Amino acid sequence: MTSYKELGLVNTREMFAKAVAGGYAIPAFNFNTLEQMQAIVQAAVETKSPVIMQVSKGARNYANGTILRYMAQGAVEYAKELGCEKPQIVLHLDHGDSFELCKDCIDNGFSSVMFDGSSLPYEENIRITKQVVEYAHAHDVTVEAELGVLAGVEDEVASEVSHYTKPEEVVDFITRSGCDSLAISIGTSHGAYKFTPEQCTRDPKTGKLVPPPLAFDILHEIEKRLPGFPIVLHGSSSVPQDEVDTINAHGGKLPDAVGIPEEQLREASKSAVCKINIDSDSRLAMTAAIRKHFDEKPGDFDPRQYLKPARENMKKMYIHKIVEVLGSNNKL
Ligand code: G3H
Ligand code: 13P
Ligand code: ZN
Repeated sequence: MTSYKELGLVNTREMFAKAVAGGYAIPAFNFNTLEQMQAIVQAAVETKSPVIMQVSKGARNYANGTILRYMAQGAVEYAKELGCEKPQIVLHLDHGDSFELCKDCIDNGFSSVMFDGSSLPYEENIRITKQVVEYAHAHDVTVEAELGVLAGVEDEVASEVSHYTKPEEVVDFITRSGCDSLAISIGTSHGAYKFTPEQCTRDPKTGKLVPPPLAFDILHEIEKRLPGFPIVLHGSSSVPQDEVDTINAHGGKLPDAVGIPEEQLREASKSAVCKINIDSDSRLAMTAAIRKHFDEKPGDFDPRQYLKPARENMKKMYIHKIVEVLGSNNKL
């Protein structure tokens, strides 16, 4: 058993309380690689922001859970080395799909876990979330749950299949499950293709796709029913058009990729939404820099030559999110 406290990590309790009260959101960046971890820590230290470093089941399979845990511990020490006296870094399990996986992470240094029972029947979601909460709270680990289903790439966001969170269920769900934060579905979704062209309109001036707005009415209704309770938004990458254009200009093929407009995320950050999940934008920033480098310098073959600009591009994106979208800068 390794407690996250021995690693210098923190749970989300105090961080979320401050974010809800202060009208900003904590960035939750997924990481799989050393360069992502370095860029996240540099961005958080330079902007004086708390940060959640999150690991999916896929990341554990890719990079190995033990290595990722030591990387998170390394992130805390690296932040100190960069001059941050008291880093506020959470190591979070993203989309845990079983009690056993959540328990394994809690036993191995995670300070926060998500049990994602959103695809389960309501009662089953409560039952397993509660089981995770009981184990997690005994170790002072915080738990994120999810109610409502995010639309998949192929789903129709505007129809019933996106399963927006039902505001009438939230009080019962959080009371009976005991979760510390709740991920909701209001129209965001995972990946770089959040909406089909048919779901969007086209800006007549630029020809770019304009996605349908998030369901702020549902968010506000949930806030009213759960005053001050921490709300989480998954699938919140903006899919920056300049990165998509760079990828496409250098041999990539991402036609009609579209994300959540940043003005809407800015607005959400001022509400009870206190954790915003971003993964795809980091993937795009990394891929754009690498593709450009390969195209412009075909003779390079030392990975450091192309991973350095990739790391710099991710760092620039992380800083932009923290300062210009979520408002979590200067909160340490
Ligand atoms: O929500 C999903 C995250 O973007 C993680 O993706 O399962 O491919 O690591 P992944
Ligand atoms: P994006 O695919 O929009 O980056 O969402 C990431 C996410 O929700 C991780 O849980
Ligand atoms: Zn997610």
